[in-house]
Amino acid sequence: MAPRFNFLLHAFFCLALATTSFSLSPKFYDNLCPQALPAIKRIVEAAVHREPRMGAFLLRLHFHDCFVNNDLELIFFVFQGCDGSLLLDSSFALGTEKNARGNFNSVRGFEVVDQIKFEVDRVCGRPTVSCADILAVVARDSVLALGGPTWKVRLGRRDSTTASRTLADSVLPSASMDLPALINNFKNQGLNKRDLVALSGGHTIGLSQCLIFRNRIYNATNIDPAFAKERRATCPRTGGNTNLAPFDPTPARFDTAYFKNLVKERGLLTSDQALFSALPAIKRIVEAAVHREPRMGASLLRLHFHDCFVNLIFFVFQGCDGSLLLDSTSAFETEKNARGNFNSVRGFEVVDQIKAEVDRVCGRPVVSCADILAVAARDSVLALGGPRWKVRLGRRDSTTASRALADSVLPSASMDLPALISNFKNQGLNTRDLVALSGTGFTMLPILILLLPRSVEQLAHEPVETLTSLLLTQHLLDSTLHTSRTW
Ligand SMILES: *[C@@H]1O[C@H](CO)[C@@H](O)[C@H](O)[C@H]1NC(C)=O
Repeated sequence: MAPRFNFLLHAFFCLALATTSFSLSPKFYDNLCPQALPAIKRIVEAAVHREPRMGAFLLRLHFHDCFVNNDLELIFFVFQGCDGSLLLDSSFALGTEKNARGNFNSVRGFEVVDQIKFEVDRVCGRPTVSCADILAVVARDSVLALGGPTWKVRLGRRDSTTASRTLADSVLPSASMDLPALINNFKNQGLNKRDLVALSGGHTIGLSQCLIFRNRIYNATNIDPAFAKERRATCPRTGGNTNLAPFDPTPARFDTAYFKNLVKERGLLTSDQALFSALPAIKRIVEAAVHREPRMGASLLRLHFHDCFVNLIFFVFQGCDGSLLLDSTSAFETEKNARGNFNSVRGFEVVDQIKAEVDRVCGRPVVSCADILAVAARDSVLALGGPRWKVRLGRRDSTTASRALADSVLPSASMDLPALISNFKNQGLNTRDLVALSGTGFTMLPILILLLPRSVEQLAHEPVETLTSLLLTQHLLDSTLHTSRTW
């Protein structure tokens, strides 16, 4: 099974286990009523066949049922995650969760659940299968009916006799959340960043309403312009609130198009694109800058190279650490004034623009300047028609710089070959790297591209800390996309 679905299942199981781990088993109904699960599958298949969008509704029902879960349950056993509470209508004792902000006018599929409940009670001869279990099995069977994978659902949940609209109001994630808000929202339910990405993948099926995505298609900067235009055609500035648009180009197929879309900045909701916003923003700005002035590609690549080259192991300077970006202070003189940089390094205004935009789309400063330089270098080469390579991320920015060090290590244009070789050797580079890296003059671009990633990795400061939340999320997306090919 693809890792992505392990995450998905893991997340569902966590939600389920949080409430009733003592009794859950995939075989729970094997003796009690062996006809139950086939009956559910039959009805789900027919409903999804009639209206593919029903698959998305049924998956969402389960998610929204499970998500309304409270730590207090451990003490009071009132709210229990996947407990069917979403199905309860209002009474004098409770306000139905169906009216919560994230559900009102958007949860659907209750008639299918009612039909299943009726049929399952009939084939079992009496009420045997809980509504909470029905929702869990229905979600699995919906995904399967739309071409997704299957998984074992652990069963034996008990139904809640109460519900909380207030709680649902406060915990259900909203489409306008940025990444920090989403991470926090899922964390409050005991779910981690991987769970967030995996569960967001549920948007590989289904549609959303204009009212929900209008702000993004008219206001967002981290959106593919052609995509925004396409969506605006059926979602006007005013009116048309219930007009629909698919989350991805294949809304009736459980596939990875949703994630591929995010990489192209074609996420429909703010909360979708929030999962993958830093790298596309860098690419977008680099492409525009290189388009305006092709030489900027070389300048940005050179910035990264000169940042990385100033490196001393076991000393304060650590290679690709953004030190080149620092201006002079009372404590140090900027590397920008070093012999190899003065009057020749440029592109800082593009880096500043990237930094501002990345901070904005991420909701806070999470991407280091050193990583921005590394990615901008890669994207510059890409924008000039070169190949793409994976950039390892997670660098920390230096808080200091050294003009003297930069003066002494940056190769001078006037050095003879032995001097150059010894200069590169001091940086842990061999003759092949020298040939490759000297290609920054762009006479040897193809060789440079083959060797640069490896050389840069040798130079790069590899932090022992775990990656930032954003980078972890993006890495997961990368691996998700990669894994998709095995499907
Ligand atoms: C765009 O953003 C502004 C400011 O937040 C807001 O007032 C406006 O309604 C938004 N436009 C749309 C079409 O949502």
